[in-house]
Amino acid sequence: MPLFQIINFIIILIVLVILARYVWGMIFDKNYQPVEWQHSDKLGLISRELLRHEKRYADKVRFFNWWFQIERIRKEKIPGAFAELGVYKGDSAAIIHLMDPDRKFYLFDTFSGFPEKDLREETGEAASYTSGNFADTNIEKVRYSINGNDNIIFCPGYFPDTIRDLGNEVFSFVNMDADLYNPTKAGLEFFYPRLSPGGVIVIHDYNYKWEGIRRAVDEFAESIPESLIPVADMEGSVMIVKSVGG
Ligand SMILES: C[S@@+](CC[C@H](N)C(=O)[O-])C[C@H]1O[C@@H](n2cnc3c(N)ncnc32)[C@H](O)[C@@H]1O
Repeated sequence: MPLFQIINFIIILIVLVILARYVWGMIFDKNYQPVEWQHSDKLGLISRELLRHEKRYADKVRFFNWWFQIERIRKEKIPGAFAELGVYKGDSAAIIHLMDPDRKFYLFDTFSGFPEKDLREETGEAASYTSGNFADTNIEKVRYSINGNDNIIFCPGYFPDTIRDLGNEVFSFVNMDADLYNPTKAGLEFFYPRLSPGGVIVIHDYNYKWEGIRRAVDEFAESIPESLIPVADMEGSVMIVKSVGG
């Protein structure tokens, strides 16, 4: 057999093995599914759309941390809307909405990339960002991609300027993922006093690379009685669970 045919054969074999492993993983790989999730799935309690998101979402720990927190909030009947600060194309928002579509869900983002004035003060990983990063999105795209119900409320523009007309709204679940010092600090100052007892704020990217986030969270943590709870997800989220009477 000529050499090039042997090489072709080997390449095809390698591609087939990789493909078979991928398909096998898609169908049978349950390694990263907590037993509670599998049980709820068997009982038919998880929507088909959410099951589809779980298969595709790379950071399983982050995904299941949201799920466990939202299940807890539901079971403990903790009152309050959901919110996300830092939405981009709506990938995380779509998942959080599916985990409890009956909650009002406020989405805060410029929907046009990072604000220039916040970038100027950044150090660490975020110092390499420009206002062009995360700019390839808009509300209509996000609305279409989330495909949610009337509980979704878009709050476009610069945060915290977009905090308006929320009256006495309280929150039970807040996902903060704005990457920078200013919105993270402003978000904690706004959401924490409005968080129901037992409610949770999850802050993404609390690691050594994101100096602005770390600084904003550490400064804020000094002013509250609760401890920061680390999450073992890929980028190192931390959580603040509001204590009763906090
Ligand atoms: C990392 S992305 C969010 C990703 C999203 N949570 C996900 O998982 O798909 C960060 C977002 O924060 C937004 N952002 C940062 N600072 C902001 C501010 N001051 N006001 C509004 N949006 C801001 C950016 O526009 C960007 O879309």
